[in-house]
Amino acid sequence: MSSLKNINHQVKELRAQVEYHEHCYYVLDDPEIPDSEYDRIYLRLKELEEKNPDLVVPDSPTQRVGGSPEDKFNSVQHGIPMLSLDNAFSFNQVVDFSRRISDRLKIDKSISFSAEPKLDGMAISIIYIDGSLSVAATRGDGRTGEDVTHNIRTISSVPLRLRGKNIPSQLEIRGEVFMPLAAFEKLNARAREHSEKTFANPRNAAAGSLRQLDPKVTAKRPLDMFAHSVGAVKDYSLPDRHSEILRLFNDWGFKVCDQNKIVYGSDGCLKYYESIMKVRDSMPYEIDGVVYKVDQIKQQKKLGFISKAPRWALAHKFPAQEKTTRVNKIDWQVGRTGAITPVARLEPVSVGGVMVSNATLHNIDELERKDVRTGDEVSIRRAGDVIPEVVSVLVSKRLKRARKIKLPNECPECGSVIVRPEGEAVARCSGGLFCSAQRKEAIKHFASRRAFDIEGLGAKLIDQLVDKELVKTPADLFNKNIINLETLAELDRMSYKSAQNLLDAINLKRTIDLARFLYALGIREVGEATSLNLAENFRTLERIMHVSNDSEALEAIEDVGPVVANHIKVFFQQNHNREVINQLISIGEVEIQSVNKLSSDHLFSGKSIVITGALTSMTRDETKEVIQSLGGKVSSSLSAKTNYLICGDKPGSKLLKAQKLNVDVLDEPRFLLLLKN
Ligand code: IVH
Repeated sequence: MSSLKNINHQVKELRAQVEYHEHCYYVLDDPEIPDSEYDRIYLRLKELEEKNPDLVVPDSPTQRVGGSPEDKFNSVQHGIPMLSLDNAFSFNQVVDFSRRISDRLKIDKSISFSAEPKLDGMAISIIYIDGSLSVAATRGDGRTGEDVTHNIRTISSVPLRLRGKNIPSQLEIRGEVFMPLAAFEKLNARAREHSEKTFANPRNAAAGSLRQLDPKVTAKRPLDMFAHSVGAVKDYSLPDRHSEILRLFNDWGFKVCDQNKIVYGSDGCLKYYESIMKVRDSMPYEIDGVVYKVDQIKQQKKLGFISKAPRWALAHKFPAQEKTTRVNKIDWQVGRTGAITPVARLEPVSVGGVMVSNATLHNIDELERKDVRTGDEVSIRRAGDVIPEVVSVLVSKRLKRARKIKLPNECPECGSVIVRPEGEAVARCSGGLFCSAQRKEAIKHFASRRAFDIEGLGAKLIDQLVDKELVKTPADLFNKNIINLETLAELDRMSYKSAQNLLDAINLKRTIDLARFLYALGIREVGEATSLNLAENFRTLERIMHVSNDSEALEAIEDVGPVVANHIKVFFQQNHNREVINQLISIGEVEIQSVNKLSSDHLFSGKSIVITGALTSMTRDETKEVIQSLGGKVSSSLSAKTNYLICGDKPGSKLLKAQKLNVDVLDEPRFLLLLKN
């Protein structure tokens, strides 16, 4: 039997391992071991702590979600007030800011600034005592905030204990808590499915999640935090540049925005603003501008403060992602699976630098809850590459004659009955492929990049082909009597040359692998991953069609539950779907490649493979696909169990790690050679 001392040692060792792997995963975004391996270590720690409650410490990684809910928020006085920033909305204001600083400091050459994205979240202050997270508070009015320690502890990227040995006895970290866009969209989508209220934007979602009395609720909300400044510090001499302090935050285990950069003078600031503005829509979280901070702490001290803001910093704001405008009309759009979506046609307005004239209302429930009517003034929002949406109505400005909108009884496109199963938020056109709108969307999906990938066959062309009743099913695309040089060249905006290019592109795709083919069919809720699993397990289309009404066989496949199994069954039961498949094969001469058993002979079969850097001969998706088609598994995390690291141009940290772990590294020429064998 192991002695208590021995167990204590084990617990400490496991804790260090869990902390290390959480840091890799949540802070560095670069896991070293598969999730299952991490789970194993975490559970072992939890088990030992449960058996030996005396060994549990508050900053153990198992203690993120505390016990019982609080009954109110206590106030916390900020030792050093949490200030705000002066705002600039124009280039001139930035030039003035930089000139004022040069004048005050009596410096002629360009000042160095730390330029950083201005995160649109909730300001937070977190105090660490002897390296252990002690108190976390919101900004409140700048002097007094609310104690949200129990909630901050649930954020996986916030360390419960500072990393490293060289730490202050007391440290106050300030930063921004935010909800990444993808998580926000997911949270709202789930709320919509359950007919619950949605959050207007990620900032409200973050604020709402932090202001929960029960940390168990917060723990379920995927929040993140970037550190951006320090408050009170004891027994530690900080570096003399802000940018170096940010680097120190990294060492202590915090996440710092990776877009931060040192720039010089107002020219540097403005160039930075432009560059961030360009990538704003592709950033995974919302920002509302950039912040310029004088980098040298000595200069910051000389400049000091004026009223509530530092003289050494400026927030340069972006155009707002939310605007108000008028709803001219509400239309109903029919999607690929018949789902009817209300769409607001708007008085065009520029939002975040992009003109917007349509916004989604998601579904009938949401339309009713928000009670949007024609003629209403509404607040709309766009962010990233998601479709703009109506957030709320400015009810006080409503016209007397504005009438409520009702779900139509018939499909606006084909006149079929609209059905809405009890308890479901989504109403659907029952017309199936009889409905031209559904047909168009099905064909667009069929030809799309991840399905048949027919180059040059875009949405507008498909609309024309369907409207002219040339193409009625996806099979018609491959029917040479329907799609040929004559018919294509007669379409709007098509020449003989572009028609020939399109025919060539179609011809190139007459052979397709089974997984892609299944995905292209557009069976409800059968995405790429499920298609791949189905293909790998059943190997031929015949076998899949054969088992399609055997729910037990289907549900044995990863990702397939009763709902998906039923969608598969219904799809293959319908004669017109079987007919389309027959026509694709017999008339369209499409060849569906079964998953070849012989692929298990390939060197990559059954191997775990990680990719880093860019290959010149194929995209990341194509590389993945070819490895999977040979039976290999592509993983994002590198461990000692990885068999090969494929290394392209500009590899990440994975290359070093692979060398350390003795993982076989394949450069592009060697990878291509092995592919062929
Ligand atoms: S520095 C003295 N840096 O913006 C002020 N603030 O209007 C020190 N914010 O509540 C703040 N991103 O929470 C700083 N990179 C960034 C920021 C940032 C967002 C927030 C901050 C503050 C507000 C100021």
